[in-house]
Amino acid sequence: MKRITLTQYLIEQQRLGGNVTPELRLLIEVVARACKAISHAVNKGALADMLGTAGSENVQGEAQKKLDIISNDILIEANEWGGHLAAMVSEEMEHPHLMPEHYPSGAYLLLIDPLDGSSNIDVNVSIGTIFSVLPCPAGTDPVGERSFLQPGSNQVAAGFAVYGPATMLVLTVGNGTVAFTLDREVGSFILTEPAVSISADTAEFAINMSNSRNWTAPIARYIDECLAGKTGVRGKDFNMRWVASMVADVYRIISRGGIFMYPADSKYKEGRLRLMYEANPMAFVIEQAGGAATDGARRILDIEPSALHQRVGVVLGSRNEVEQVRQYHL
Ligand code: AHG
Ligand code: MN
Ligand code: MN
Repeated sequence: MKRITLTQYLIEQQRLGGNVTPELRLLIEVVARACKAISHAVNKGALADMLGTAGSENVQGEAQKKLDIISNDILIEANEWGGHLAAMVSEEMEHPHLMPEHYPSGAYLLLIDPLDGSSNIDVNVSIGTIFSVLPCPAGTDPVGERSFLQPGSNQVAAGFAVYGPATMLVLTVGNGTVAFTLDREVGSFILTEPAVSISADTAEFAINMSNSRNWTAPIARYIDECLAGKTGVRGKDFNMRWVASMVADVYRIISRGGIFMYPADSKYKEGRLRLMYEANPMAFVIEQAGGAATDGARRILDIEPSALHQRVGVVLGSRNEVEQVRQYHL
């Protein structure tokens, strides 16, 4: 089998003349390299004192884990010197991080969830890193929070790494969705899924059932109908999965279909997941693989953001099921 590395894939995409410029290629390679370093840290676990809390809180008031901070630092350090970024933002930082002045400033903005699935770090369940790339709007000087407030449809690249039994990198540069597996001995990401395609139908849903008392009527109706199984209105039995790491739940959906939901409810009125660091990049990956992503009513990628850390309801995956949920919201 001919092995295609991430570098080769990106160079071929660059030649095709889509979103991939030499600068964007460098950016994606730098993010991938940082993910390798994070994967290494995750694998060491307790041996390298990687587990447990850091004793601090992020801007959303969530307790930070050591790995949240380590991953954030790895991604910043990797991206500061390349000259491909104007600034970056992270779930773990209140304000945008500007590049040091002694390095050239680039044309792109990077948005990261450095460590997704923090509650799974200490229990040895798959976790990951999510990233999104936006163009830096021309004439924004200084680059600030407002430069980032663009709809997800402006993304030129997005993806995520999963640190699971294998470390994988899922990527879209707007020309379909592909997935790479890390070959640890060689140190390269090798293309193992050249054309991810999500089945339109599914009989598997993912939602945190412990929130059911807080759900809105359309979500409660949809799940009730799934639970009713073969003899109910849907006429088929559904299975359920909930990893509590969005990267792992979304990876399963791109592998074998499914619907993932973290909807807005009476507790999380704006939703629980973050638009810029989680919903937008995942929506881009999912749409490019033939799936759909909404907040119930609106296409995620069309939402005009008003704040860096804003939250949003998320319903994504197999498109016929996502459409079913959307219909219940009309
Ligand atoms: P993060 O670890 O970056 O804060 O994100 C965790 C998210 C997401 O990965 C997952 O789907 C969800 O939170 C799990 O939430 P519950 O703990 O409410 O199930
Ligand atoms: Mn997350
Ligand atoms: Mn996180």
